Amino acid sequence: MKIRLISTLLSLFILSGGLNLSVLNAASHEDHGSDEGTELSGHMEEISKVFRRVRRQIRDASKNANSAELVGEMLKHAKASLELKPVWTMDQPKSEQADFVAGFKKNMKEFIGMLEDLQAAFQAGDNDKAAAVVAKLRDHQKKGHDAYKKPDDD
Ligand code: HEM
Repeated sequence: MKIRLISTLLSLFILSGGLNLSVLNAASHEDHGSDEGTELSGHMEEISKVFRRVRRQIRDASKNANSAELVGEMLKHAKASLELKPVWTMDQPKSEQADFVAGFKKNMKEFIGMLEDLQAAFQAGDNDKAAAVVAKLRDHQKKGHDAYKKPDDD
């Protein structure tokens, strides 16, 4: 009898511990720019990683086919970003949020256009042009982050 009571109490304890953990887990997965980052920041991380590889081989014409493929990867993530909203949107006044998101989309579309130019430059074997587009891309990144990335989101 005593053993049964102890085992019942023990299972209740384990069960409630399990529930508590699942509540904590659900809270930490909400997409509000938590430490785990948002879906948009996930795409940005990938863009950043691949962009570093492209810059490393920008002058190496023997790698142009691979560079064009890598830019294709960046394009995939940039196009997926078009469908998302920056975390900072929620901090804008309600009446300005639609304009904020529209501005972000416009900026992202320009960014996609530049990536297409970069890919075309690699495909045409024009490494000077590729280097010039990369310089413009970095300016555009700064503008995009100044306008749409939450300042304390570094
Ligand atoms: C080569 C170009 C770019 C690179 C390498 C880049 C890289 C990054 C990185 C590393 C982050 C931080 C991710 C994290 O929180 O872990 C980030 C965040 C962010 N970037 Fe970019 N970025 C680029 C272009 C852009 C452009 C053009 C825009 C706007 C149109 C933009 C908008 C944002 C926003 C809004 C965030 C914050 C994420 C959020 O609100 O959920 N980025 N970016």
